[in-house]
Amino acid sequence: MSRLAVLGASGHGKVIADIAGQTGWKVIDFFDDAWPSLRRNSHWEVVGNTSQLISVLDQYDGVFVAIGNNSIRLIKLIELEQANAQIVSIVHPAAIVSVYSHIGKGSVIMPGAIINVDVSVGDGCIINTGATVDHDCMLGRGVHLSPGVHLSGNVTVSDNTWIGVGACVRQLTSIGTNAIVGAGAVVVRDVDSDKTVVGNPARILNRK
Ligand SMILES: CC(C)(COP(=O)(O)OP(=O)(O)OC[C@H]1O[C@@H](n2cnc3c(N)ncnc32)[C@H](O)[C@@H]1OP(=O)(O)O)[C@@H](O)C(=O)NCCC(=O)NCCS
Repeated sequence: MSRLAVLGASGHGKVIADIAGQTGWKVIDFFDDAWPSLRRNSHWEVVGNTSQLISVLDQYDGVFVAIGNNSIRLIKLIELEQANAQIVSIVHPAAIVSVYSHIGKGSVIMPGAIINVDVSVGDGCIINTGATVDHDCMLGRGVHLSPGVHLSGNVTVSDNTWIGVGACVRQLTSIGTNAIVGAGAVVVRDVDSDKTVVGNPARILNRK
Protein backbone atom coordinates (compact mmCIF):
# COMPACT_ATOMS: atom_id res chain seq x y z
CA MET A 1 0.00 0.00 0.00
CA SER A 2 2.08 2.84 -1.25
CA ARG A 3 0.94 4.98 -4.18
CA LEU A 4 -2.68 6.14 -4.55
CA ALA A 5 -4.11 8.02 -7.55
CA VAL A 6 -7.17 10.14 -6.78
CA LEU A 7 -9.31 11.28 -9.72
CA GLY A 8 -11.10 14.54 -8.91
CA ALA A 9 -9.17 17.44 -7.40
CA SER A 10 -12.08 19.05 -5.55
CA GLY A 11 -12.95 19.76 -1.92
CA HIS A 12 -14.24 16.20 -1.69
CA GLY A 13 -10.96 15.04 -3.21
CA LYS A 14 -9.01 16.81 -0.46
CA VAL A 15 -11.04 14.99 2.16
CA ILE A 16 -10.31 11.67 0.45
CA ALA A 17 -6.57 12.42 0.25
CA ASP A 18 -6.50 13.39 3.93
CA ILE A 19 -8.24 10.16 4.96
CA ALA A 20 -6.06 8.09 2.62
CA GLY A 21 -2.93 9.53 4.25
CA GLN A 22 -4.28 8.54 7.66
CA THR A 23 -4.92 4.99 6.49
CA GLY A 24 -1.38 4.36 5.30
CA TRP A 25 -1.12 5.54 1.67
CA LYS A 26 2.37 7.02 1.34
CA VAL A 27 2.16 8.93 -1.96
CA ILE A 28 -1.10 10.52 -3.09
CA ASP A 29 -1.33 12.07 -6.57
CA PHE A 30 -4.37 13.84 -7.97
CA PHE A 31 -5.67 13.59 -11.52
CA ASP A 32 -8.34 15.93 -12.88
CA ASP A 33 -9.66 16.78 -16.31
CA ALA A 34 -8.95 20.47 -15.54
CA TRP A 35 -5.21 19.66 -15.67
CA PRO A 36 -2.88 21.32 -16.77
CA SER A 37 -4.56 24.58 -15.73
CA LEU A 38 -5.22 22.97 -12.34
CA ARG A 39 -1.88 21.96 -10.79
CA ARG A 40 -2.58 21.68 -7.06
CA ASN A 41 -5.35 20.62 -4.72
CA SER A 42 -4.36 22.11 -1.36
CA HIS A 43 -1.48 19.98 -0.02
CA TRP A 44 -1.34 17.66 -3.05
CA GLU A 45 -0.16 17.92 -6.65
CA VAL A 46 -2.40 17.41 -9.69
CA VAL A 47 -0.28 15.48 -12.17
CA GLY A 48 -2.57 14.66 -15.09
CA ASN A 49 -6.06 14.06 -16.45
CA THR A 50 -8.14 10.87 -16.82
CA SER A 51 -6.40 9.64 -19.98
CA GLN A 52 -3.00 10.22 -18.43
CA LEU A 53 -4.08 8.31 -15.33
CA ILE A 54 -5.12 5.39 -17.54
CA SER A 55 -1.72 5.43 -19.23
CA VAL A 56 0.18 5.23 -15.91
CA LEU A 57 -2.07 2.86 -13.94
CA ASP A 58 0.82 0.42 -13.44
CA GLN A 59 2.58 3.06 -11.31
CA TYR A 60 -0.22 3.09 -8.70
CA ASP A 61 -1.23 0.49 -6.11
CA GLY A 62 -4.73 1.92 -5.88
CA VAL A 63 -7.11 4.32 -7.61
CA PHE A 64 -10.02 6.23 -6.07
CA VAL A 65 -12.60 8.40 -7.85
CA ALA A 66 -13.30 11.44 -5.65
CA ILE A 67 -16.04 13.20 -7.59
CA GLY A 68 -19.03 14.44 -5.60
CA ASN A 69 -21.54 14.21 -8.48
CA ASN A 70 -22.97 10.69 -8.32
CA SER A 71 -23.43 10.11 -12.06
CA ILE A 72 -20.03 11.46 -13.07
CA ARG A 73 -18.38 9.47 -10.28
CA LEU A 74 -19.96 6.25 -11.56
CA ILE A 75 -19.06 6.97 -15.20
CA LYS A 76 -15.42 7.55 -14.24
CA LEU A 77 -15.41 4.48 -11.98
CA ILE A 78 -16.64 2.27 -14.83
CA GLU A 79 -14.12 3.80 -17.27
CA LEU A 80 -11.27 3.07 -14.86
CA GLU A 81 -12.53 -0.45 -14.07
CA GLN A 82 -12.60 -1.20 -17.79
CA ALA A 83 -8.98 -0.03 -17.95
CA ASN A 84 -8.18 -2.57 -15.17
CA ALA A 85 -7.49 0.05 -12.50
CA GLN A 86 -7.08 -1.29 -8.98
CA ILE A 87 -10.10 0.51 -7.48
CA VAL A 88 -9.90 0.71 -3.68
CA SER A 89 -12.31 1.64 -0.92
CA ILE A 90 -11.29 3.96 1.92
CA VAL A 91 -12.46 3.70 5.52
CA HIS A 92 -11.49 6.36 8.06
CA PRO A 93 -9.98 4.87 11.25
CA ALA A 94 -12.69 6.62 13.28
CA ALA A 95 -15.54 5.01 11.34
CA ILE A 96 -17.27 1.96 12.81
CA VAL A 97 -17.91 -0.74 10.23
CA SER A 98 -19.48 -4.09 11.11
CA VAL A 99 -17.47 -7.10 10.02
CA TYR A 100 -20.84 -8.41 8.82
CA SER A 101 -21.24 -5.62 6.28
CA HIS A 102 -20.11 -5.26 2.68
CA ILE A 103 -18.40 -2.11 1.40
CA GLY A 104 -18.16 -1.88 -2.39
CA LYS A 105 -15.16 -0.88 -4.48
CA GLY A 106 -14.48 2.84 -4.72
CA SER A 107 -16.59 3.71 -1.68
CA VAL A 108 -15.52 5.90 1.23
CA ILE A 109 -16.66 5.67 4.84
CA MET A 110 -15.85 8.96 6.54
CA PRO A 111 -15.00 9.75 10.18
CA GLY A 112 -17.72 9.09 12.71
CA ALA A 113 -19.85 7.12 10.26
CA ILE A 114 -21.37 3.84 11.44
CA ILE A 115 -22.18 0.90 9.18
CA ASN A 116 -24.14 -1.67 11.14
CA VAL A 117 -24.58 -5.42 10.79
CA ASP A 118 -25.73 -6.96 7.46
CA VAL A 119 -25.54 -3.66 5.57
CA SER A 120 -24.47 -3.65 1.93
CA VAL A 121 -22.90 -0.49 0.48
CA GLY A 122 -22.50 -0.62 -3.31
CA ASP A 123 -19.57 0.54 -5.42
CA GLY A 124 -18.68 4.22 -5.61
CA CYS A 125 -20.68 5.35 -2.58
CA ILE A 126 -19.93 8.23 -0.23
CA ILE A 127 -20.91 7.65 3.39
CA ASN A 128 -20.13 11.08 4.68
CA THR A 129 -19.07 12.35 8.11
CA GLY A 130 -21.17 11.01 10.97
CA ALA A 131 -23.78 9.28 8.80
CA THR A 132 -25.28 6.13 10.28
CA VAL A 133 -26.60 3.16 8.36
CA ASP A 134 -28.49 0.69 10.50
CA HIS A 135 -28.93 -3.06 10.17
CA ASP A 136 -29.92 -4.65 6.86
CA CYS A 137 -29.83 -1.46 4.79
CA MET A 138 -29.06 -1.99 1.10
CA LEU A 139 -27.33 0.83 -0.79
CA GLY A 140 -26.85 0.62 -4.55
CA ARG A 141 -23.99 2.07 -6.62
CA GLY A 142 -23.07 5.75 -6.54
CA VAL A 143 -25.18 6.62 -3.49
CA HIS A 144 -24.18 9.66 -1.42
CA LEU A 145 -25.25 9.93 2.21
CA SER A 146 -24.31 13.48 3.24
CA PRO A 147 -22.99 14.33 6.70
CA GLY A 148 -25.25 13.35 9.57
CA VAL A 149 -27.76 11.30 7.58
CA HIS A 150 -29.46 8.55 9.58
CA LEU A 151 -30.91 5.50 7.88
CA SER A 152 -32.99 3.26 10.16
CA GLY A 153 -32.92 -0.51 9.68
CA ASN A 154 -33.93 -2.22 6.42
CA VAL A 155 -33.84 0.91 4.27
CA THR A 156 -33.08 0.50 0.55
CA VAL A 157 -31.40 3.30 -1.38
CA SER A 158 -31.00 2.67 -5.11
CA ASP A 159 -28.25 3.74 -7.52
CA ASN A 160 -27.22 7.39 -7.92
CA THR A 161 -29.37 8.72 -5.12
CA TRP A 162 -28.25 11.66 -2.97
CA ILE A 163 -29.50 12.13 0.60
CA GLY A 164 -28.88 15.63 1.94
CA VAL A 165 -27.21 16.64 5.15
CA GLY A 166 -29.02 15.68 8.34
CA ALA A 167 -31.89 13.78 6.68
CA CYS A 168 -33.49 10.80 8.46
CA VAL A 169 -35.17 7.81 6.85
CA ARG A 170 -37.74 5.60 8.58
CA GLN A 171 -37.16 1.85 8.75
CA LEU A 172 -38.29 -0.40 5.88
CA THR A 173 -38.44 2.53 3.44
CA SER A 174 -37.24 2.33 -0.19
CA ILE A 175 -35.75 5.24 -2.10
CA GLY A 176 -35.50 4.82 -5.88
CA THR A 177 -32.71 5.58 -8.35
CA ASN A 178 -31.53 9.15 -9.12
CA ALA A 179 -33.62 10.52 -6.28
CA ILE A 180 -32.68 13.49 -4.07
CA VAL A 181 -33.65 13.81 -0.43
CA GLY A 182 -33.28 17.42 0.71
CA ALA A 183 -31.22 18.54 3.68
CA GLY A 184 -33.00 17.87 6.97
CA ALA A 185 -35.85 15.85 5.44
CA VAL A 186 -37.64 13.13 7.38
CA VAL A 187 -38.55 10.36 4.97
CA VAL A 188 -41.49 8.27 6.18
CA ARG A 189 -42.79 6.87 2.86
CA ASP A 190 -41.10 5.29 -0.17
CA VAL A 191 -39.56 7.78 -2.61
CA ASP A 192 -39.92 7.10 -6.35
CA SER A 193 -36.98 7.22 -8.74
CA ASP A 194 -35.99 10.64 -10.14
CA LYS A 195 -38.00 12.54 -7.50
CA THR A 196 -36.74 15.22 -5.10
CA VAL A 197 -38.35 15.23 -1.66
CA VAL A 198 -37.98 17.80 1.13
CA GLY A 199 -39.39 18.57 4.55
CA ASN A 200 -40.87 16.77 7.56
CA PRO A 201 -42.62 14.57 6.57
CA ALA A 202 -40.78 14.54 3.25
CA ARG A 203 -42.92 15.41 0.23
CA ILE A 204 -42.15 15.79 -3.45
CA LEU A 205 -40.62 19.17 -4.29
CA ASN A 206 -42.76 20.67 -7.03
CA ARG A 207 -40.63 23.16 -8.89
CA LYS A 208 -42.43 26.29 -10.07
C1 LIG B 1 -33.41 19.77 -2.05
C2 LIG B 1 -32.38 20.57 -2.81
C3 LIG B 1 -31.53 19.64 -3.68
C4 LIG B 1 -33.13 21.53 -3.71
O1 LIG B 1 -32.25 22.36 -4.36
P1 LIG B 1 -32.78 23.31 -5.54
O2 LIG B 1 -33.38 22.47 -6.61
O3 LIG B 1 -31.64 24.22 -5.90
O4 LIG B 1 -33.99 24.07 -4.87
P2 LIG B 1 -34.11 25.62 -4.42
O5 LIG B 1 -33.03 26.03 -3.49
O6 LIG B 1 -34.34 26.41 -5.67
O7 LIG B 1 -35.47 25.58 -3.56
C5 LIG B 1 -36.73 25.30 -4.15
C6 LIG B 1 -37.77 25.38 -3.04
O8 LIG B 1 -37.60 24.27 -2.16
C7 LIG B 1 -37.33 24.73 -0.83
N1 LIG B 1 -36.27 23.85 -0.30
C8 LIG B 1 -35.06 23.62 -0.84
N2 LIG B 1 -34.37 22.74 -0.10
C9 LIG B 1 -35.16 22.42 0.94
C10 LIG B 1 -34.99 21.57 2.04
N3 LIG B 1 -33.85 20.86 2.20
N4 LIG B 1 -36.01 21.46 2.93
C11 LIG B 1 -37.16 22.16 2.76
N5 LIG B 1 -37.37 23.00 1.71
C12 LIG B 1 -36.37 23.12 0.81
C13 LIG B 1 -36.85 26.16 -0.98
O9 LIG B 1 -37.10 26.90 0.19
C14 LIG B 1 -37.66 26.62 -2.16
O10 LIG B 1 -38.96 26.90 -1.72
P3 LIG B 1 -39.80 28.14 -2.38
O11 LIG B 1 -39.94 27.81 -3.83
O12 LIG B 1 -41.08 28.12 -1.62
O13 LIG B 1 -38.95 29.34 -2.14
C15 LIG B 1 -31.39 21.34 -1.88
O14 LIG B 1 -31.98 22.47 -1.28
C16 LIG B 1 -30.84 20.47 -0.77
O15 LIG B 1 -31.41 20.29 0.30
N6 LIG B 1 -29.62 19.93 -1.05
C17 LIG B 1 -28.88 19.13 -0.12
C18 LIG B 1 -27.61 19.88 0.28
C19 LIG B 1 -26.67 19.04 1.07
O16 LIG B 1 -27.06 18.15 1.79
N7 LIG B 1 -25.38 19.27 0.93
C20 LIG B 1 -24.38 18.46 1.59
C21 LIG B 1 -23.30 18.09 0.63
S1 LIG B 1 -22.10 17.06 1.35
